This record gives sequence, structure tokens and C-alpha cells, in this order.
Amino acid sequence: MIFGADYYPEHWPEERWREDAVLMKRIGINTIRIGEFGWSVIERKEGEIDFSLYDRAISLFAEYGIQTIMGTPTATPPAWLCQKYPDIYMMNRHGDMRGYGSRRHYCYNHKGYQKETERVVKMVARHYSHNDNIIAWQVDNELGCEDDVLCYCDRCRKAFTDWLKRKYGTLERVNEAWGTVFWSQTYTEWEQIIVPKDTVVDGYTGNGHNPGLMQDFKRFSSDSMYGYAKLQTEILREESNKIITHNMVSEQSDNYRLAELFDAIGYDAYPYSEWDYNSPGRIGFLYDLSRGYADKPLWILEQQSGPCGWNVLGETPKSGQLKLWSQQAASRGIEALIYFRWRTCPFGAEQYWYGILDHDGVPGKRYQEIGQAISSIQENEEYLRLPEKKKVLLVYDYDNKFCHDEQPHVRGFVYKEEVVRYYEALRRIHVPVRVGSLAENLDAYELVILPFISMIGKEDAERISRYVKNGGNIILTPFSGQRRINNQITTEILPGVFRNMSGVTVASFHAMEREIIPYEEIGNMQLWREELKLDNAESFRKNWISPEGGPLVSENRYGNGRVFYISCCMEAYDRMLQEICRETGTASGYGDIPECVECIEKSNCLILMNHSGEKQQVLLKGYRDIRNEKSSIIMEEYGFAVAVRN
Ligand code: GAL
Repeated sequence: MIFGADYYPEHWPEERWREDAVLMKRIGINTIRIGEFGWSVIERKEGEIDFSLYDRAISLFAEYGIQTIMGTPTATPPAWLCQKYPDIYMMNRHGDMRGYGSRRHYCYNHKGYQKETERVVKMVARHYSHNDNIIAWQVDNELGCEDDVLCYCDRCRKAFTDWLKRKYGTLERVNEAWGTVFWSQTYTEWEQIIVPKDTVVDGYTGNGHNPGLMQDFKRFSSDSMYGYAKLQTEILREESNKIITHNMVSEQSDNYRLAELFDAIGYDAYPYSEWDYNSPGRIGFLYDLSRGYADKPLWILEQQSGPCGWNVLGETPKSGQLKLWSQQAASRGIEALIYFRWRTCPFGAEQYWYGILDHDGVPGKRYQEIGQAISSIQENEEYLRLPEKKKVLLVYDYDNKFCHDEQPHVRGFVYKEEVVRYYEALRRIHVPVRVGSLAENLDAYELVILPFISMIGKEDAERISRYVKNGGNIILTPFSGQRRINNQITTEILPGVFRNMSGVTVASFHAMEREIIPYEEIGNMQLWREELKLDNAESFRKNWISPEGGPLVSENRYGNGRVFYISCCMEAYDRMLQEICRETGTASGYGDIPECVECIEKSNCLILMNHSGEKQQVLLKGYRDIRNEKSSIIMEEYGFAVAVRN
């Protein structure tokens, strides 16, 4: 397996490199990732090309058996290049040009930058394609991470217009799809097409644009980013046959589509930072979402190795957590685990982003802990790399994300976070789950959860219907079947395309921005609820009733399968899912495992991870701990264990 550190030779005196290599080797690091911000290192001024610093670093580390992943340096166009193209920057929705000073400061549709990108990527690829110490390319860095996908400049407006021409052919069709007759928005010439900038209503409602236009603008923007990435992968493929990867973290792109471009799916994991304080379930969700992008190897290109933030710090990981998070990543069968970063940088915007070593470069507590993480993963590699059991598919869909992000129905509803609630519950009740797209082969699963699938095309609805008829089980939730693929609301009776399957009618709904309804047995209902009228369906668990006396969850037999409709948003879905899983034969029977102990089922073993800062007892049924052959395990604080089948 690849164990690595994100390293920046240009940040340190050359005399120090050797010591770093020795220290890395000592804890099992066999790879460094370099170069992704290094444009001015290889081209200080236009045309002054000099790879010698990276060449020397690569060969010095190779002396210690440490290989390199080379980044294309396009995430940081250097000052000279931005001077050459003063209009390289993105424009925000208020019409302000973003400026120089941090990173990712370029518009994906800027022709000049695309040309420079071609030039530099070719140059890097040609220089290193025959260097055996380089094992892979990383394209750019975290495309779309710094809020850089949606650009409102005139270039993007023109590109959007062309995109619409390709998609719709005629303006008539655009008008029809978007319903532009509303507020006299009918377009009569392509030149009138806009990008959704700030409008007069933004002051009080944030966005007053046509939803059809918004949805297409987001799809277009995602495609622009995809196009930019493709420009790079095509050159890299022409010039070399090394693996291509990319750390995919964007919230604004269709990452299933983006994943098509790479050989290995990259992801960057920061459970606690200035911006995040993730629950164990949410950390797991993010690993599993990345894994769901494609059936390709998963590489963690940046794994948290210390406390982190830019101007303020997030929570300091407790002793043992860094190790556990690494093991948690490894439990997903990853091929590479690379820590960000080797040593904390004394200058630049990330002075507080702590790496394996502090600013002083002296190995300390974190160096020890990461070393232990690596050796534990190496010891258990044969188990960790086994394929994971998957019984349940949790669908995560970008069209629905784009749509809910814009019009969440009720303040407080955030699509991703509400899907995460389902995932967290499944992990707490220890049900093996895969996160994936609507396009997955549904027949591989016993239960498919379709949370908040408001927007859905005919073909997908038909595939789902066939899956259920053939014996599959699905869970639907509020908003199901509400929208057509052009983002118009259906005029069918809700839940629209799902009505026949679910055997219910959504008779009415309640937005609950402020109200929380506690249920003793099943927890708090919040944000949104719908009143279901049973057509063919029955009520699931007769005592789970809405304030109006209707079912909270319905169950319908459809063909050979079953459709459950959960009519409300809950703070936690544990109880509801436990019952549905029991009913559908998807509940796990591993024994008695506390909810804070995450359990990943592989073909012949369980990976157990205690996410609490206290010891936990696990009583397994049918499995035994590989260390002592016992089925009763006391797990240490943030502890890890592997149990095999009896
Ligand atoms: C990631 C990024 C790294 C580094 C890190 C800490 O998002 O890829 O380059 O910036 O965050 O902020």
C-alpha cells in the first residue's frame, strides 16, 4: 500500500531534505506528493523553465525508496501569469472580479488560461513521463474547492449560451423548459441569455432566479470544471501511461461524472478543522461517498495529521483519533494513505495547519501516532483490503443536491446533511451501506434508500419500479417525485412518479422551521413532514402516527418488492431504519455492539472501531477477535480490532 506525506521541498532548505527522508522511512512512508502548487518553482518567469529543484528532491527521496506523486501546478497560476491575463479571475455574482492573493484564482472558461494549462501540463508530463520514481499524476488540486465553480463573467455567459444551444437546440425549447413566460422572461435572442447574478430581490431572499435557469447554470458550471480537468487528463494520457488521480472535494460538481476521468479516486479527509467537526458517521460518509464515485481504487491524497485551520484552529484531535481516522479510511479498502502535511509551514496562509511534524521539525507525539497508524494498517492489510459487504444502497444525487441547495423548502434543510443523517443511523445500527448514484446497479442491493429524490427522470423512475417489481425494497422520503428533470414541479398528484409504487398520496405537508415534535419511541421529528393518505399501502408500525392520526411510515407491496415511505425528517433515523431493516432482512446480526463502535463487514471479518474516548465492550455473535480468539472484546478508547468469522 502507498503511505505518503504531502511534501513541499521548496519550503525547506535543501540540507534538510535528507533528514526528512530518513524520518519518513522510519515510520513506513514510501511516497511523497509534490508540485501541485509549484508553478513558480518550475517557471519563475514566463519561459524561464527550471525543473532542477524538483529533480533533485525526487532523486534524493528515491534513494530512500520513497516515490513521488507529481501534481500539475495549475491550482496556483503565478503572479506573472495573472499579470499577463488581468481578466483570468472568476467573477462573483455581484459582478466583482476576484483577485490575486490566495489560490484557485482562475475561470475554467478562460481561453488564455486553458492554453497556459496545456503548455505547463505538457511540459511537466514530458519532463517526468520517463522518470520511474514518479508513480502517478495528480491533476491540479481540489478543483472546485474554494467556491470557484460558479463564475459569472461574460466568458462564462457566452459559454453557458453555447451549452444551452447544444442542449436544447432552439430558444423555444429553453423557454419551455424554464417556463420563462413567468415574469416576462421569454428569451427571443441567444444574446439575451444571462448568468444568474445578483438581482433586486437578493437582499431579502438570496436568490430570485428562475429555477430552470439555476439548475442548468449549475449543470453547466459543473461541466465547465469537468472540461477543464479533461483538458489535463487528455494531455497526461497522451504523454504517459502513469496513473492519474485528483483529490475530489467539490460540492458544486457532479463528482460521479468527474470520476470518469481518473484512474484512482482521490479524496482529502479533515475530520476536525476550522470548518468541520465531523461525527464519526459523517467522516465515514465522506469516505464512502468518495468510494461511491466510481468502482476504482480510492486514494486518500490528504489525511489529517494534526490540529488544523487557517486563521483559527478547529478542535485538536484527542490522542488516538488521528490513528483511528487513518484506520477508518483504511477500512474502506483504500490503496493509498497520504498525510497532509509532512511539516507545518512557518509562512503562508496555512501556518496553523499542523502536519506530522511541528514548525520546528522535531518528531513528537503526532509523528509517533502516525507511525503507529501505518504499522497497524500494514499488519491488518489482508483484512482491510477485502471487499466490503454491501446490502443497502444510500443514493446521493447531484441534480437533487443542486436543486435542494437553491430551494431547500424550509430554512435549515441542507440536502447533504439530511442524507448524512440516514448514513449515520445506518452505521450506528451497524447495517452495511454503500453510498452511490442513481445509476448504480440496484439489483446488487436488498434495500435502496432514496432520500429526498425530488427531481427524477422517467428512465430512472422506471428502473426503480422494475427493481421493486423484481423483489427489491426501497425507502422514499419527503419531496419524493416532486420535480421533473427540467426543475419544474410536476403537476401530477404527489409523490408523482412514485405514487403508484408507494401506494400513497401526499395529502398535505407542514414546513417546520421552528417546530420540533418529540416521539418517545422514535425521536424528534423536525424541519418537514407530510401527511400521507393510504391508497394501496398500509401503515408500517401502527403506533407510529402523525399528529393528524395518519401513518408516519407507510409500506406497500409492489410486485415482489416493497416500498416504504418515511413521511418526515427526523433528527435521527435509527429506530425507523432498525425496523425497516429487520423487516427487509437487511439488519445485521453481529451481536451486541455499542453504537459508537463502527463496524465494517468484509467477506470473512469485521473491522471494529471505537469512536468514543471511553473503553467499550463488544459481544460478538459468530466472530472472534484475531488477537485472542475471544468473542467478547474490550475496546480501548479510540481503539481498533479485527474479528474473523468462527
Ligand atoms: C486542502 C488542500 C491543501 C491544504 C489543506 C489545508 O483542502 O488541498 O492544499 O490547503 O486543505 O488547508
